[in-house]
Amino acid sequence: MRRPIIIDTDPGPDDALAILLALGAADRLEIRGITTMAGNVGVDQTTVNALKICALGGAPQTPVHRGCPRPLMRALHTAEFIVGEDGLGGMDLPEPTVAARPQPAVAYLVETLRAAPDRSLTLCALAPLTNIALALVIAPDIARKIDSIVMMAGARDLGNVTAAAEYNVFVDPHAAHIVFEAGIPITMFGLNATYQAVATGARIEPLARAGGKVSAQVVAMLRRERPGGKSLGGDGGHPMHDPCVIAYVLWPELFTGRDCRVDVAVDEGPTVGRTTIDWWGRSGAPANAHVIDTLDADEMFARLAAAIQTLD
Ligand code: BDR
Ligand code: CA
Repeated sequence: MRRPIIIDTDPGPDDALAILLALGAADRLEIRGITTMAGNVGVDQTTVNALKICALGGAPQTPVHRGCPRPLMRALHTAEFIVGEDGLGGMDLPEPTVAARPQPAVAYLVETLRAAPDRSLTLCALAPLTNIALALVIAPDIARKIDSIVMMAGARDLGNVTAAAEYNVFVDPHAAHIVFEAGIPITMFGLNATYQAVATGARIEPLARAGGKVSAQVVAMLRRERPGGKSLGGDGGHPMHDPCVIAYVLWPELFTGRDCRVDVAVDEGPTVGRTTIDWWGRSGAPANAHVIDTLDADEMFARLAAAIQTLD
């Protein structure tokens, strides 16, 4: 049976690769829908980008629902200096011919989850968590329908937007707090894990050799110059944060982690958006997330390349 997932996303190059990985693994995963969020760029653009990526991956009819244009409380903080003006720097894709569905993302999440059996849907969260938090606030009964939320969010160590905060949590710390407190099984990919998933030349090589239409777009994206200069992870390549989420759903054996208590700092100041992870269990507070620590990045990229090539 294929595992049903909903992807909440703000494409973004690494989001794009995550969606393509899920489409390339269509024998194992069923994308029920994609919900978009403002983040890397504004929500109109992330929605267009999600539609473009689905078309590139041969699945233009994938339901895409436009989500929130802004976080709950704070002003939106976008990331063009990393991802380029349109969010998909390096790719050259035609305008989508299919429109987003009229139903807003939050309403779609509530309706779809309410109609689903208990613990039957996995949410892959690749963006600020506003859509998911709002859905949980409006309809707390949907929590039991979610098998787990696998998310790219936070950091065990240093942040990437500020010294303390990772981007997705920094943009909407209040939403992240709501989701971490919802009592849903969570697997968390923070920067400490995802900076191990750098798309180095050697890891991209199989896709460059493949040269098909999807592989070529992915390679162009992965080789592009960042408008803002080097990644904090160094100049070995772009860190592929979000594909780790889909890779984990497909291949959990490539990852290790630990159940921990995670608290989100919501107060304004230098630590806003920080995820404090009780790695050593000092507080005695019950764990609310499985926090990923290590991954076999070479194997992950090898499997990812094979999946992407099925779309060529
Ligand atoms: C996260 O922020 C976004 O820019 C990326 O797509 C990823 O989800 C990394 O901090
Ligand atoms: Ca993202």
